[in-house]
Amino acid sequence: MPDSVTTELDVLRVRGQFMSLADGFVHVDGAAGSLVPYSVASAVGNTMRTAVANRGGPFAASQLADDLVHAGRSAIADLVGGVPEGVILGPNMTSLTYMMSRALAKTWQLGDEIIVSRLDHDANIRPWVQAARAVGVTVRWAEVDIETCELPEWQYDELLTERTRLVAVTAASNAVGTRPDVAAIARRAHAVGALMYVDAVHAAPHIPLDIAELGADVLAVSPYKFCGPHLGAVVAKPELLAGLHPDKLVPSPAGVPERFETGTPPFELYAGLAATADYLADLVPSEGTRRERILASMRAAETYESHLFARLHYGVRALAHVSVLGSPPRCTPTLSLTVQGKHPREVNEFLAERGICAWDGDYYATELFEAVGVNAEGGAVRIGLLHYNTETEVDHVLDALASLG
Ligand SMILES: Cc1ncc(COP(=O)(O)O)c(C=O)c1O
Repeated sequence: MPDSVTTELDVLRVRGQFMSLADGFVHVDGAAGSLVPYSVASAVGNTMRTAVANRGGPFAASQLADDLVHAGRSAIADLVGGVPEGVILGPNMTSLTYMMSRALAKTWQLGDEIIVSRLDHDANIRPWVQAARAVGVTVRWAEVDIETCELPEWQYDELLTERTRLVAVTAASNAVGTRPDVAAIARRAHAVGALMYVDAVHAAPHIPLDIAELGADVLAVSPYKFCGPHLGAVVAKPELLAGLHPDKLVPSPAGVPERFETGTPPFELYAGLAATADYLADLVPSEGTRRERILASMRAAETYESHLFARLHYGVRALAHVSVLGSPPRCTPTLSLTVQGKHPREVNEFLAERGICAWDGDYYATELFEAVGVNAEGGAVRIGLLHYNTETEVDHVLDALASLG
């Protein structure tokens, strides 16, 4: 068993900010949605107790609505290294990706090609497959190594052609944690002029993100996975967005990024989003701009989580009746397991009875689980750690799994 470690991140100080942790459960279901610190909850509540009108009016309550939109966009820009003018906000990543797929498909022609990956959450597969089908574009598939659950980047040399318009790929698998070499894929995609659409929904809670370093032309995240409110965001260069024309109402704003957003925004959630960026920036003591402090925090969170994950991984691998799917060398602190002779739902119910919140099924990584061959047996059970989890919690999960043997 790996030794306990001291890291920069003070987990007790972190946990003190989460009222919801007082429920006494072990929350290792972060990959499905994280808990929210007090500061985020109160920013949402305080905004709802304040006069906030719709945008565009000549009075203070309307100015506040404009300010909240800007604060929400800035929060995402600071998280991923973009600019607020390139941040599209919406209800969740799936809705925004559907919208982007339709907008991008307007620029495709019969005979063009796109590439999706078998590693991805269905939200970064199906919108592209359906948009491609609608305009006669060919879909090519990047495959996973079914033993390791890696996504080899060399296969893109074969998949990419002069006709490739888009490569959609995840920065981290929500099921098995694999972190593909997105930058290496992007270099290949850009060499033939294809656009990179990167799903960073599962990566964002675990690693420092930089849209330019990843080589992403468009990057999608979901704040409710990194201790924020239920929202989604898509980030791109404003110049790229300027060339796209999503369906919109006639009187709604025509500029970028507004024309990509439909209807009246949830201003109170945008206040929560701004508080989320502040929370992340303050995870460990550091100096500098909020962007720099978020990067320092995420580096500390990554180190802390990797020690915690080593403990989980080592413990689980030692259980003869438990199998772990894949063994990706670069991964988030997320694993999927099966227990010999037990249905994943049965295992998850057993964990729930012991106060452990985990997840079972395919968690929408349907293509991956089909490829690996576990879908017919109900998928797997996912244990996903976050920076607010502790060694004691990991040991509790390991004890529960051991007692299933
Ligand atoms: C990797 C990944 N991509 C996309 C999604 C979809 O995100 P949303 O719920 O914001 O639509 C999820 C949700 O679990 C996810 O884990």
